[in-house]
Amino acid sequence: MFSKYVVHGGTPLRGNVTISGSKNAALPMMAAALLAKGPTVLRNVPDLSDVHLMAEILETLGCRVALFDEPGVVVIDVMDESPVVAPYELVSEMRASFCVLGPLLSRRGEAHVSQPGGCTLGERPVDLHVKGIAAIGSEVRFERGNVIAKGRPTGGRVYLGGAMGPSVTGTANVMCAAVMGSGVTIIDQAACEPEIANLAAMLNSMGAQISGGGTSRLVINGVKELHPTEIAIIPDRIECGTFIAAAGVARGDIVIERCDPDVLLAVFDKCAEMGIDVSRLDETTLRVKCDNRPRATDLVTLPYPGFPTDLQSPFMSVLCVADGFAIVEEKIYPERFMHVPEYRRLGADIRKQFATCIVSGVTRLQGAPAASTDLRAGAGLVLMGLAAEGETQVLKIQHIDRGYEIFHEKLAALGATIKRVEFVPARRAEDRRREAA
Ligand code: EPU
Repeated sequence: MFSKYVVHGGTPLRGNVTISGSKNAALPMMAAALLAKGPTVLRNVPDLSDVHLMAEILETLGCRVALFDEPGVVVIDVMDESPVVAPYELVSEMRASFCVLGPLLSRRGEAHVSQPGGCTLGERPVDLHVKGIAAIGSEVRFERGNVIAKGRPTGGRVYLGGAMGPSVTGTANVMCAAVMGSGVTIIDQAACEPEIANLAAMLNSMGAQISGGGTSRLVINGVKELHPTEIAIIPDRIECGTFIAAAGVARGDIVIERCDPDVLLAVFDKCAEMGIDVSRLDETTLRVKCDNRPRATDLVTLPYPGFPTDLQSPFMSVLCVADGFAIVEEKIYPERFMHVPEYRRLGADIRKQFATCIVSGVTRLQGAPAASTDLRAGAGLVLMGLAAEGETQVLKIQHIDRGYEIFHEKLAALGATIKRVEFVPARRAEDRRREAA
């Protein structure tokens, strides 16, 4: 059985939506629970397929994981600290599982983690993770498709900048690797993403000594022992940005609750240029109003605090219906434009060259079947459906399930006409021939 979203466009959004916890904070924080024996409690965890997969990986690494016995609560009880191997079958399903490397190495002195392959976003190497871990005194090598790291880090100086900026999960891995041990580690050009600051706060609450979490220089004094902790995951800024984009595409007047406006300044800047009115009602609540056709504006994705690559495809949906043309430049993942042919199926006018697209806004999109190519692109496609005439079917929504909690229910509560439909895929010609034979 497969699932798809069926969307009927044309209804402006109205009402309130609540933001879930951040996927990209939750996954490395779940992995970081490996750093202490006993039960670590994470609150405000989103119920997503990626979270379930990370739980499975942690179970192979000696943990008992209780998922959502209470809403938003995940308890990771580290019982057996002997396993050090994260197998290919699981790691190949989700790149973020590579985040177990640092915690395993730091706590257990050894880690064998399958090397992630490429994905629909492009090549996605792990050289910065490996370079960082080697720079703090561990032995690390590639062997038969695995990254094998041995020997507790002793500290050192690390420069984590790459051609595309710092690595987010690379910073998480090196920071987790460095927390237990004898020496001092200084990481320069560390990722400044709020998810890294959330992870640093978690590690400090376990007894680590990290200063500079959320800035480009992290200073880590290794400690002998860490203890389990209890901490809340920050709100998902990408989910919040996606709902802002939804109000831009479909028009309307919505209130977004339990978000963190302070981490979305680059998005607000673009909204102001596009004529999408975003106002803060209080510290965790936004109102987003869009009565008229948005204006086109250029977008460049950058590391935080720049405009996030994870919002490139949702905001490209806004540009597809905006007044004028815009240049969208992808500086993090030059190949993250797999959604462009799918958007075109609905009538979008997009020209692509290398890592840049020129989007000319159209006055009319027409519903059509189209497929999610990655999780953010899937969400963007749903947004396209909200503006399109007639019915849009969004296929391959398992991508969306990886990163958006009850996406269709949240949109439906805002008045969108969207439902999730289970279906048996049409038989292929080859199957029919085989059956007939
Ligand atoms: N890079 C290297 N070498 C490395 C690591 C990365 O060259 O060793 C390059 C990448 O190829 C890319 C850039 O550096 O061009 C940034 O990649 P980064 O390592 O920062 O990405 P990531 O840590 O693997 C996280 C998020 C992604 C998000 C990116 C960029 C998690 C679990 N994933 O990935 O989220 O797009 O940072 O902000 O935190 C998503 O949620 O849809 C998603 C893909």
